Amino acid sequence: MNETLVNSQKHRITLAGTAQSFECDNDDVLLRSALRNNIAFPYECNAGACGNCKFELIQGGVEVKWPEAPGWTAKDRERRRYLGCQSMPRGDCTIKMHSNQRYAPIHEPKRVTGTLTSRRPVTHDIGEFRFELSDGMRFEPGQYALLALPGVSGQRAYSMSNIVQGSDAKVLDFQVRRVPNGEGSHALFDKLAAGEQIEIDGPYGMAYLRRDVKRDILCLAGGSGLAPMISIARGVAADREMQGVNVHFLYGGRTPRDVCGRDMLEALENFGKRFHFNAAVSDARGDQWDGHTGYVHELAESMFGDGLRDMEIYFAGPPAMGQAIQKMLLGREVSFEQVHFDQFY
Ligand SMILES: Cc1cc2nc3c(=O)[nH]c(=O)nc-3n(C[C@H](O)[C@H](O)[C@H](O)COP(=O)(O)OP(=O)(O)OC[C@H]3O[C@@H](n4cnc5c(N)ncnc54)[C@H](O)[C@@H]3O)c2cc1C
Ligand code: FES
Repeated sequence: MNETLVNSQKHRITLAGTAQSFECDNDDVLLRSALRNNIAFPYECNAGACGNCKFELIQGGVEVKWPEAPGWTAKDRERRRYLGCQSMPRGDCTIKMHSNQRYAPIHEPKRVTGTLTSRRPVTHDIGEFRFELSDGMRFEPGQYALLALPGVSGQRAYSMSNIVQGSDAKVLDFQVRRVPNGEGSHALFDKLAAGEQIEIDGPYGMAYLRRDVKRDILCLAGGSGLAPMISIARGVAADREMQGVNVHFLYGGRTPRDVCGRDMLEALENFGKRFHFNAAVSDARGDQWDGHTGYVHELAESMFGDGLRDMEIYFAGPPAMGQAIQKMLLGREVSFEQVHFDQFY
């Protein structure tokens, strides 16, 4: 059978103990196919790392895209547990998973073609990449998409920094940090040329702007976490219903030359009145720096203290930053109902 025919094959996935089932393409994974069919399949990273998308295979067979995925353990294999984000069906299947309405997609994720149209440097190691889409995409500020990059095994998750204007977005902007020896970021920075096309699959992610909450917002971004926080600030600025909401944007970098985002905030109407930018660096040695020296969670705590309990909090960045923020918020007894993040892996 030729490859096109095999890839267009569909398999029926039945959820054990429920009346629900859905069709999954031969080349799609169970998690994303379920979400495309409006089934609330729990997940977070979509990258094989967090382990939140596990299911038990009761009947049928799957092909695992990335057997070395850190979220898939030896014990999982013994118990026929698989990662939804890494499993492609090989025939009809029956699976057991605990659906949770929190994960019901707001916008149906879809696969589109993206053409790289421009790139610009943001800092010495962060670049912004713009893709024009073959088909419009709806998403909420703070969400991410999966990019299939040439010569890279698996897809990489990158958050959009722009917002949807009109009914859907015709372009997506990503702000990506160059990771030393990183396959995906290297492909974006050094291999993909303007005019080249890739597959983009999205939107995904739960750390999106809650438009119905009218509390002031705190955005904490570190390193590669710039894009989703910029998208959230832009989303608030563009939403008439959120005019009473102030946004405090805090960026954490290692050294002063890592600090970025101020110009993007300054471009928003009411910068300095409703939109505020502050930065912290952990290592200011030898550089001119008149901002906060230390970590971004320390800056947030010193600026807002117990006032954090009255804010809606979004954060994105490296895992160590995320852990430090969560610990600080726990110490301040901030309810996790008002804290939103998708861990970066
Ligand atoms: C929800 C989310 C949003 C993110 N948003 C951004 C962003 O806006 N900007 C940014 O710079 N970074 C972002 N990242 C991080 C980004 O996805 C990459 O992890 C990072 O760019 C390093 O990738 P790399 O390929 O360069 O490095 P590598 O070290 O080559 O790859 C590391 C990443 O790729 C995954 N991976 C490795 N091999 C495979 C494989 N065979 N199949 C599938 N996955 C594999 C790993 O789980 C890990 O996530 C985000 C990550 C997540 C989870
Ligand atoms: S391991 Fe599948 S969503 Fe994180």
